[in-house]
Amino acid sequence: MNLNKNRVLTLGQFIIEKQNDFPYAKGELSRLLRDIGIAAKMVNREVNKAGLVDILGDMGTTNIQGETVKKLDVYANEQFISALSYGGECCAVASEENEDMVHIDGEVSKNARYVIAIDPLDGSSNIDVNVSIGTIFSIYRRTSLSGAVELSDFLQKGTEQVAAGYITYGSSTMLVYTTGRGVNGFTLDPSIGEFCLSHPDITIPKTGQIYSINEGYYVHFPEGVKRYIKYCQTEDRVTSRPYSSRYIGSLVADFHRNLLKGGIYMYPSTAKSPKGKLRLLYECNPLAFIVEQAGGIASDGFKRILDLQPRSLHQRTPIFIGSPEMVRAAEDFMLKFSAETV
Ligand code: F6P
Repeated sequence: MNLNKNRVLTLGQFIIEKQNDFPYAKGELSRLLRDIGIAAKMVNREVNKAGLVDILGDMGTTNIQGETVKKLDVYANEQFISALSYGGECCAVASEENEDMVHIDGEVSKNARYVIAIDPLDGSSNIDVNVSIGTIFSIYRRTSLSGAVELSDFLQKGTEQVAAGYITYGSSTMLVYTTGRGVNGFTLDPSIGEFCLSHPDITIPKTGQIYSINEGYYVHFPEGVKRYIKYCQTEDRVTSRPYSSRYIGSLVADFHRNLLKGGIYMYPSTAKSPKGKLRLLYECNPLAFIVEQAGGIASDGFKRILDLQPRSLHQRTPIFIGSPEMVRAAEDFMLKFSAETV
């Protein structure tokens, strides 16, 4: 048979092909990723309708049919948990939207071995103004052997992740993930309703020209961060400085741009948030896994993010993530000018 070399490779097909990379895989991880892809498409559909609020009803209010319009972050949370519940491979979810873990203990999930930490809709304050938002997820194998899932199943170091990924709902919708063998990106083709491989083997440039940080908080930053920002703004031909400042305020979108173009994203400790703002389990760890797989670095300013020991589900951490040379430079400034606070 004459196979078409230019064929479109869908997420589903790619996952099945890659499954053979894992000699003992029984397809569970593949099914989990498939379930996440399905929920992402449902969320994408609703996100695309967000601009029609005047017609359909504002989020959290009643629409013209008299139905309550759910807030998108609540909707996204329900979609992901429901897809994971019916998929049968996930036994618990830790979500940004729920204070405690959500146990999945239906009949179909009784042999499930994976737990998932997720931020179902990150950057949701950007929805109303049509700016990119995202979903971030992290997959672990449960460590407890039987019975109900325990907190310790989630409090594993980032190095133990078996897969991680994100979806960015933007000018196009993309799903990017890693299972520890490189990073691949898929763009949603709305005409066929499938994520199609568009960015195989993503690698982050060793250095870049973009720094991303909320400079509005400058006065509250540690001295090391202030000095690094000044370094970014200083003219230097060899390193092509000054760099450009780009900050969307949607972690996934800022991260995604820097992953493809080269750059550094920083959310350090501030006087207001001494431990930083972003969450270790479902924001920093998954992106750290992805960036390392793409050749980059993720640090809390002093230590590797993936080596941090989580102590609670919603723990925060400062983060410096992106091109390796830029993150190393920021770490040098932190070491020189800032005491470790976390
Ligand atoms: O998770 C929180 C989040 O919305 C991220 O998506 C984003 O990068 C960050 O907060 C923005 O925070 P701030 O408005 O403090 O810069």
